[in-house]
Amino acid sequence: MTRVIVLSDPHLSPTHGFFWPNWQLACDAASRIEAACTIVNGDLCIDGPDSDAEMEFAARALAALPGTVLPLPGNHDIGDEPPGQDPNQIVDEPRLTRWDNAIGADRWRFQLDGWTLLGVNAQLFGSGLARETEQNDWLDAMLTDSKGDRVALVLHKPLFVESPDEALPSPACLCPAPRGELIQRLCKADIRLVVSGHLHAHRDRSIDGLRHLWVPSLAFSGSHGFDGDGRCGFAVLDFDGDHVGVEIVRPEGLVSHDLAAIKQHGRYRFLREIPPSPPRIAA
Ligand SMILES: [Fe+2]
Ligand SMILES: [Fe+2]
Repeated sequence: MTRVIVLSDPHLSPTHGFFWPNWQLACDAASRIEAACTIVNGDLCIDGPDSDAEMEFAARALAALPGTVLPLPGNHDIGDEPPGQDPNQIVDEPRLTRWDNAIGADRWRFQLDGWTLLGVNAQLFGSGLARETEQNDWLDAMLTDSKGDRVALVLHKPLFVESPDEALPSPACLCPAPRGELIQRLCKADIRLVVSGHLHAHRDRSIDGLRHLWVPSLAFSGSHGFDGDGRCGFAVLDFDGDHVGVEIVRPEGLVSHDLAAIKQHGRYRFLREIPPSPPRIAA
């Protein structure tokens, strides 16, 4: 059996510290668990698309995690693929470069006994950027190379919410056209599991023979009305042959923040617009 920790959506910032105590609790709890690696599945930041300081702050926070740490970007790190939920923060080359410089790779492969985990940059699908093509070529090569292994795909956004046939673009998940292409690609290998964050809710459901695991946020509860448990926490995955056990860990003291309350019920549209309240960080 091999254990993997998945943290998601911590939404850290050196100026807006709403969720910093949750991050500390999660780090403490995660560091007591013996795991082969710790994945951090996107939305490390609040205003990563436009702030060097936030990305560097997130990089320092990741450095506190023990062992192998495998981060992936989310829309609050490098911007959304178009059309996006915030037209001022669409993924582009400078935003990718900010991630590269502070965090490092935006895709990775991690091999366990009988499993290949492939982490990809969800924000590239449908972006039209050169790196989207590079990533697709890399993914094809990794899937071909995975022969004999079961494959788990890890990315910030879910492929879809309820059904792979959803026709309308939604900021909740990948857009329909690139989703269809990605599913075609994945079907060439023994794909078993898709692990995502972004919706700030936990759900574990098999749809058309493929298991889709939503990992909850470490910052605030999902408020989108989809199915799923919006309470904050992180996931511990146990890979054991065909079986993948999932435990959601909610350390004592972890707060499932209410985003609407933090934004003062409509007074602020985005967290980054709220007056600064820096995290209290012990020296
Ligand atoms: Fe998020
Ligand atoms: Fe997100």
